[in-house]
Amino acid sequence: MKTKSPEIKKTWYKEMSVYQIWPRSFCDGNGDGIGDLEGVLSKLDYIKSLNVDAIWFSPLYPSPNADYGYDISDYKNISSDYGTLELFKKVVEEAHKRDLKIIMDLVINHTSDEHEWFKKGREDKNSPYHNYYFWRKGRGKKPPNNWKSVFEGGAWEYDGNLDEYYLHVFAKKQADLNMDNPAVREEVKSIMRFWLDLGVDGFREDVITYISKREGLPNGFPLPIGTGIEHYTNGPKVHDYLAEFRRDVLDRYDCFTVGEAPGMTPKLAKSFIAEGESKVLDLMFHFQHMAADCILTDWIRLPFSLKKMKKAFSRWQREMFGVAWNALYLENHDHPRIIDRYGSRKYRVESGKMLAAMYLCQSGTPFVYQGQEIGMTNIELDSLDKFKDVITFNNYRLFKKLHLSDERILRITNRCSRENARTPMQWSGGKNAGFSTGEPWFYVNPNYTEINVEAAEKDADSILNFYRKALKFRKENELVIYGDYKEHYKESRKLYVYERKYNGKRLLVICSFTEKPVRFITPDGFNLKKGKLVLQNYKNVSDSNVFLTRPYETRVYLFED
Ligand code: NOJ
Repeated sequence: MKTKSPEIKKTWYKEMSVYQIWPRSFCDGNGDGIGDLEGVLSKLDYIKSLNVDAIWFSPLYPSPNADYGYDISDYKNISSDYGTLELFKKVVEEAHKRDLKIIMDLVINHTSDEHEWFKKGREDKNSPYHNYYFWRKGRGKKPPNNWKSVFEGGAWEYDGNLDEYYLHVFAKKQADLNMDNPAVREEVKSIMRFWLDLGVDGFREDVITYISKREGLPNGFPLPIGTGIEHYTNGPKVHDYLAEFRRDVLDRYDCFTVGEAPGMTPKLAKSFIAEGESKVLDLMFHFQHMAADCILTDWIRLPFSLKKMKKAFSRWQREMFGVAWNALYLENHDHPRIIDRYGSRKYRVESGKMLAAMYLCQSGTPFVYQGQEIGMTNIELDSLDKFKDVITFNNYRLFKKLHLSDERILRITNRCSRENARTPMQWSGGKNAGFSTGEPWFYVNPNYTEINVEAAEKDADSILNFYRKALKFRKENELVIYGDYKEHYKESRKLYVYERKYNGKRLLVICSFTEKPVRFITPDGFNLKKGKLVLQNYKNVSDSNVFLTRPYETRVYLFED
């Protein structure tokens, strides 16, 4: 029986898969211990071989690296750590030759305090650049309001010369831009045009839902970190500003945007990404499925709840279907590795593949983070002074206030820090995992001797080859891209089972999230004997409609009715 699916407008960005590069740790081409564009050039064929269609670069711009590139000091250049603008152009050209699109990270909520705009505005209250930021008088000896940064203590930094404070919602060296100033918006448009004219295909827009602050900057509800967040998350003018960028720049190019959106819900997301006149972004990265083992932040851990994760995925699948488009991801540079969170270290290979099938078979544009495709895991550092991230430093101070011992803080940090995702990419079992001939800027995970690209290439059953297969299957089957979604066994705490349906074809995705055997009963309407097994993480699969799952087993069946 043919089933009719709702009309979804077909577009290239809905059909692509994206590989994310965090450049500092990807591949070092010049032996200085820092990943760079020469390194990227040498790996373009590898990236292409994954069956992805685009690369998203975390920031490549000049930056003092208070937040590793998310503090930009020059928006129209490339950091000398990574190469030159000329070299970047070559990367774009070589990527395009291979049919790989390039997506830049656009960080416009804040700039570095070392950006020219900030320096000029700090020197002189009468400079036009002063009003590029939020400079305010204090309340007596106190800062202008009670806001706290999400990275570093209070959200206001005092400048003795000016006798004023500037706002930084993130680190002190990340000063918030005043998007209410039309001149700032013109700068943003000029940055967008600069990169689009150079040939890039789109932007990932950093904390884009923070760019509009409530007028008068009122006091916020007191919180341990991030007080004031309700006054700038999805602020009053965010839609207007994004619409303006769309109208004046983005609509004039065949490009794509994905906005990072902490605190986003499906209902609110539709006001940004639903198809139609009011659409201001193509996709959004929400965080709801990343909170199945924690609360508020990655640093307050709870036992993993499969039900919580399924609920988040299913909600977004259901609510976006036919209305807007999902962004699918399990890892990026801001979270510990997924195998250590939702999978199993003991069953690394099995759970790594299962997690891949679980999200790559859903509706949306998938993103794969460097190292995820070979099943990289968290690192365990033996001392707190080995960590380098501003969030880790901040949390250390908070934990100290709570009188936690260094030993306990180290345990928590090893488990929760985003630095787990920032260890150098493991290319081989050779020196420094093949990442660099020099001294790597950060610690290489000692498990590189076992987990590396070279070894995975040689093994037909590696996680790497599973990703390739799953991404190829997705690309070749409109069912996976445009199909309907329906969840089965919602109440199960061990299995995640869903189907996709499109023009008479169906897909059944079965994922076990436990090492224990679970009795799986094929849902009504499916007969495994008639299905084609397209993805699996175990050999010897029977076609029985009732079976006991093996640890972290996954099977994906295709039915052509
Ligand atoms: C989100 C980015 O992904 C993260 O790495 C960064 O620290 C913050 N935004 C601030 O720019």
